[in-house]
Amino acid sequence: MIGKAQGPPVSITGVGAYVPDRVLTNDELSTLVDTSDEWIMERTGIRERRIAAPEQALTDLALPAAKAAIAQAGIEGKDLDLLLCATVTPDMMFPTSSALLADTLGANEAAAYDLLAGCTGFMYALAQAYGMLVAGLAERALVVGGDVLSRILDWTDRSTLVLFGDGAGAVVLEKVEKPGFLGFELGADGGGGIHLSLPGSGSRSMEEATGNGYVHMNGREVFKFATRVLVSSAEAVLERCGAAVEDVDVYIPHQANVRILDHAVQKLGIPRERMIVNVDRYGNTSSGSIPLALAEAQADGRLKKGDLVLMTGMGAGLTWGSALMEWTQ
Ligand code: ACO
Repeated sequence: MIGKAQGPPVSITGVGAYVPDRVLTNDELSTLVDTSDEWIMERTGIRERRIAAPEQALTDLALPAAKAAIAQAGIEGKDLDLLLCATVTPDMMFPTSSALLADTLGANEAAAYDLLAGCTGFMYALAQAYGMLVAGLAERALVVGGDVLSRILDWTDRSTLVLFGDGAGAVVLEKVEKPGFLGFELGADGGGGIHLSLPGSGSRSMEEATGNGYVHMNGREVFKFATRVLVSSAEAVLERCGAAVEDVDVYIPHQANVRILDHAVQKLGIPRERMIVNVDRYGNTSSGSIPLALAEAQADGRLKKGDLVLMTGMGAGLTWGSALMEWTQ
C-alpha cells in the first residue's frame, strides 16, 4: 500500500516515551547465557537494554508515554476520540490495552483498539490514525507503540535474548494548518512470516514442543529482509512524495541492530549523522522503538520545525512501513 497525503493536513502535535528503570547490561547477560559484551557489541551494537519490573505490564509503560504526549499537545485525555495501541505484548488479549488506557486517561469518547503488526506496529497505527483523521472520523488520536518483549523471550536462548528490550512511546495526531504527513508506504509478506514467530500464542494448535510461547527467529533471514525493506520502503515513499534522499533531515529507522541501520544509511545515501540511533541503550523495543527514538530526537533538539522526517519500521509478519512528514511542532 502506498499513498501520497491528500485532504486536510494532519501532523504529530505531541510526543512522549517511557522506559523501565532496570538496566540490563551485556555483561549481566553473559552470566545468564553463553555470550559476551564483545560479541553483542560487534554483531548488534547493543550495549544495554531496559527490562520491565515484574509488576509492570504494557499499559504501565504506555501510560506515562501517553500522558507526556497528551500534555505536550496541550490537550486532555477526554479530548481524544481515537486511541490505537500497537503491541504484540498487551496486558492480556482482552480487554485490549488501548481500552484500558483510554479508561485511565479519561478518553471516554474514544474508539480504542490494539493493532498487531510486530515491530512495524507503530507505523501501521500511524497510517490508520492518519486515515481516520483525514476521513473526518476522528479529530484527535493517540497512537501508542510499546512492548514488553522480555516476557516472551526464552531466557536460555542467546540468539534472541541479547537483541530485545522493553519500552513504549506515544504520539498525538491532530489536524493542523499545513502538512504534516506527506505519505506512507506499508507492506507485508506472510510467506516470510515463519522467520519470526511466536508459536503457541494463538488459535493454531501446536505440537507440544519446547519453545512454545517464546520468540523464534531465523536471525540471518530476518537480517536479509530488514536490510532489503529498510531501503526499498524508504525509496518508495520518497519517490511517491516527490522527495529526494538528500532532502531528508532526520531519519528514524526501527532500532533493530546497528549493522542493519548502517547498511540502510549507506545504501540510501543518507549521512549517518542524520540518523537517530538509540539501539545501543535500549535494544530492539519492537513497536516502542520508533516513537522512543522520535521522543529522544525531539528532547535532544534534533527535530526542528520544517525538517523532513523519514521513519521506517520492519518486523514480524513479515511487515514493513514508512512515513514521510514535515515536522510541524
Ligand atoms: N552470543 C555469542 N554467540 C552467539 C550469540 C550470542 N548472543 N548468538 C548466536 N551466536 C553464535 C551462533 O551460534 C553462531 O555460532 P556458530 O558459528 O558456532 O554456529 C555464531 O554466533 C554466528 O551466528 P549468526 O546467526 O550467523 O550471527 P550473525 O552475524 O547473523 O548475527 C544476529 C546474529 C545478531 C541475530 C543477526 O542475524 C541479526 O541481527 N539478525 C536480525 C535479527 C533482528 O533484528 N531481529 C529483530 C526482530 S525483527 C526486526 O526488528 C527487524
